[in-house]
Amino acid sequence: MLHVLFVCLGNICRSPMAEGIFSHLTVERGVQSIIVADSAGTSGFHAGELPDPRAMETTVTHGIELTHLSRKLDFDDFLKFDYILSMDSANLDIILAMQKRSGHNRAKVLMMRSFDPEADDDMDVPDPYYGGINGFDEVYQMLMRSNEKFLEFLQQRHL
Ligand code: 4NP
Repeated sequence: MLHVLFVCLGNICRSPMAEGIFSHLTVERGVQSIIVADSAGTSGFHAGELPDPRAMETTVTHGIELTHLSRKLDFDDFLKFDYILSMDSANLDIILAMQKRSGHNRAKVLMMRSFDPEADDDMDVPDPYYGGINGFDEVYQMLMRSNEKFLEFLQQRHL
């Protein structure tokens, strides 16, 4: 079994969307019992909350329902997960610093958009929290492109 974790700042916008999209793709490809996803935030600002209503509205339009409750990334995650994907470079720095302190080196930590065929120099999934609904649509498209490639990568490498 492979375990993958998506991480952003608040765990109510980008990373629960990434988790929902990725899990949807694993079901479509029949690998949901082999590759399992979760998400977390580098902050605990919204711990226990459902995703932002705009994130839920955006994914539901594409047939994907989000039920994840926000939680903060913790040291055990570096032991449990095979891959940890960061939504942006600011959170990548925090994740890598936490991994060092955790003393666990199982998890491979990567940028989500390193799998986006349309990514240019800017590898961040932009934080849509302070913007309008259009920002969520843009994030959805980026996450779908990235996760299709990420899942292909996992299937080729591990299955
Ligand atoms: P996320 O978006 O990191 O994609 O979940 C944010 C959600 C909440 C906050 C910042 C970003 N906040 O500051 O509360």
